[in-house]
Amino acid sequence: LDVETDNRNYILVVGGLGYIGSHTTLELLKANYNVIVVDDLSNSYRDVLDRVSHLASVHFKACGLPMPALRFHNSDYRAPTMRALLSSYGSYMVADNSSGEQTLKQVSRITGVIHFAAFKSVEESIQKPLAYYMNNVCGMVDFLALLQEFGIQNFVFSSSATVYGEAANRGVPLKEEHMVLHTETYLNDSGFEQTQSPGSMGLTSPYGRSKYMCEAILADIAKADPSWKITALRYFNPVGCHSSGLLGEDPRQKPTNLIPVVATVLTGQRPVLSVFGTDWETSDGTAVRDFIHVQDLARGHIAALAASANGVVKEPYRAYNLGTGHGHSVREVVASLENASSRHIPVQEVGRRAGDVGSCVARVDRAERELSWKAEKTLADCAVDVWNFTKGRFGFSGELL
Ligand code: NAD
Ligand code: WQD
Repeated sequence: LDVETDNRNYILVVGGLGYIGSHTTLELLKANYNVIVVDDLSNSYRDVLDRVSHLASVHFKACGLPMPALRFHNSDYRAPTMRALLSSYGSYMVADNSSGEQTLKQVSRITGVIHFAAFKSVEESIQKPLAYYMNNVCGMVDFLALLQEFGIQNFVFSSSATVYGEAANRGVPLKEEHMVLHTETYLNDSGFEQTQSPGSMGLTSPYGRSKYMCEAILADIAKADPSWKITALRYFNPVGCHSSGLLGEDPRQKPTNLIPVVATVLTGQRPVLSVFGTDWETSDGTAVRDFIHVQDLARGHIAALAASANGVVKEPYRAYNLGTGHGHSVREVVASLENASSRHIPVQEVGRRAGDVGSCVARVDRAERELSWKAEKTLADCAVDVWNFTKGRFGFSGELL
């Protein structure tokens, strides 16, 4: 299709073929958004695009409706060619009276951007901090400057519960105010006014710091120019995959997160799961996390775009936790995957992993209230979907329970 003759609006998804990006791209299409995906395939594969496109076409065929447009650019989001790409969508001028004088303002047909493109391995970030800061921080800064040039100011950022650092160790569910970027006064749990100064405590990796820095930069930009609409979504532990078994977590990088590692034990690529730490102050001694199904997470992005387009969110920069509000221990995760697969998962108990926290669970009332979004799927749903994806794609081994 020729961009010149195409006058539709689009959402630009950078990093849209990765784990969370691919599920979000599919949900965007299902919600009738036209989507442009930019991904350099540094941690994903080209066939994910075909899978997303196939699932969307099945959906629209069943509804008897035409499918929205899906375009793909195999590119680093830092490449100089991004200017030409944005330029091809920055195509109409509108009157702007905001300065008191009537001028013309360029408006893009890209009405929103979701930014997933980043490196995400905590371990690797400690070995290669510059690569992480260059892609995650410098890349985002240059990209924002480019978006600003084209009048694109509706921006959704993939942040992480990692920005709460050691605040997670307080053992209470984390609310957004536990990490703020500008001094804020809020009512604490006892109903008293409390002032929170900017800063995040105890970030243990360059990866975590890169997310904190990005949020700080985004908050500064929004403060300087309140016409931006920036949403930072702080994901807790994204797990699960599309229930068809066609989309899942399939990175080029060796997995280190719990459920992908468990999957490699189920496929026989790894003989045993090492459980890091059994002496945490939790019900069974293993660490507790707020595991959120990636399809719920994907819907959270649609909710964020809708809330900022509808003017529900008044602030030019706003952060939201995306979690379930409930914690599950490492042992519970293993049990749910054993249950879903009817297979035994051998474990060995080893010491704590450096930089881990004992418990990290979200307070989710802000997202529920302001984005009208709530996670719906359970850990058992996640386990069934992961098993479905794993057996479909990689085969399996191991003893039956
Ligand atoms: P992912 O690695 O599966 O997806 C990221 C995608 O971005 C990949 O397809 C990769 O090829 C692409 N990419 C990376 N750098 C790029 C660049 N310079 N230009 C173009 N494309 C580039 O990761 P994910 O799990 O889907 O995570 C998406 C976002 O969410 C990341 O920003 C990550 O930091 C954040 N996040 C992830 C988790 C998690 O546990 N998965 C938790 C919190 C936050
Ligand atoms: C969960 C629990 C491990 C593997 C990380 C990032 C965070 C965010 C999400 C991006 C921990 C234990 C794990 C294993 C184990 N990513 N575990 N054996 O550490 O909560 O969060 O991913 O933003 O920034 O830090 O997730 O899945 O790695 O670990 O016992 O082989 O499972 O020790 O307690 P984590 P995880």
